[in-house]
Amino acid sequence: MAKTIAVLSQKGGTGKTTTVRTLTDAFRRAKLKVLAVDLDPQGNLSDYFDTDPEASPTIAELLLGRATAAEAIHGDLIPANLGLAEAELVLGGKLGRELTLRKALKDVGDEYDIVMIDCPPALGLLTVNALVAADHALISAEAQYFAMQGVEQALEVIELARDGLNPDLAWLGVILNIADLRTVHSREARAALLEHVGDRLIEPVIRSSIAYAESAERGLSIIDYRPDLGSDYLEIAGEILKRLEFNKGAKRIAKLLAANS
Ligand SMILES: Nc1ncnc2c1ncn2[C@@H]1O[C@H](COP(=O)(O)OP(=O)(O)OP(=O)(O)O)[C@@H](O)[C@H]1O
Ligand SMILES: [Mg+2]
Repeated sequence: MAKTIAVLSQKGGTGKTTTVRTLTDAFRRAKLKVLAVDLDPQGNLSDYFDTDPEASPTIAELLLGRATAAEAIHGDLIPANLGLAEAELVLGGKLGRELTLRKALKDVGDEYDIVMIDCPPALGLLTVNALVAADHALISAEAQYFAMQGVEQALEVIELARDGLNPDLAWLGVILNIADLRTVHSREARAALLEHVGDRLIEPVIRSSIAYAESAERGLSIIDYRPDLGSDYLEIAGEILKRLEFNKGAKRIAKLLAANS
């Protein structure tokens, strides 16, 4: 069965989608089979993978039981669009609404090593569905003042999921995104996180660069667009694979990093 990782944050714009896009790419370079799931009505992840906007069925049809997971997968991605906002409303009135994604993905779990879920910037029903479907939660935090506050809110929701519907949910850690360690506030955000979460802070921090927006616009992974910056994510991918005991994959990432440097 695939290991499923949900990437979440309460705040918008912390780098969730970029993290899912880039880690999916890094894990695939480590020769793992990875399914990416866009669970955000903004559809940013689908765009970043340069998916046909007309691709159908999407995650909305899957959640409403109108399509199977196999049908909703287009090039190892389940896309989303604004239709997901409506699906979320409909889903809200249904019994077992928190379990829908978990059940929907069950059929395809055997075909993948890892499933990566990109959550919307809210801790509502969609994010709860992701946390119930996931084995691991990964928090994305922007390297700003109050980063710790956002992490604490996300941790509370993880705890709720654990207390209720998904007792096995593990907390993988936090990625500190969009960081400029030359600035005091990025350094302080990192220090505060280290103090509170210790080695759950998955290092290195992701350096801030306009190249990320450019790579998204072009539908390219940062690892292709700017390999010098992409090494941040490759290192994090290697660390995550170690923590998940994909040891072969972790070694492959180490080789890629050595070849890059
Ligand atoms: N390391 C980085 N440095 C600078 N900009 C970044 C970095 N990572 C992401 N960005 C940019 O920051 C913006 C937000 O990133 P992204 O869309 O990944 O965040 P998000 O948490 O998914 O946002 P949302 O909450 O809206 O879903 C985007 O324009 C993206 O290109
Ligand atoms: Mg996003």
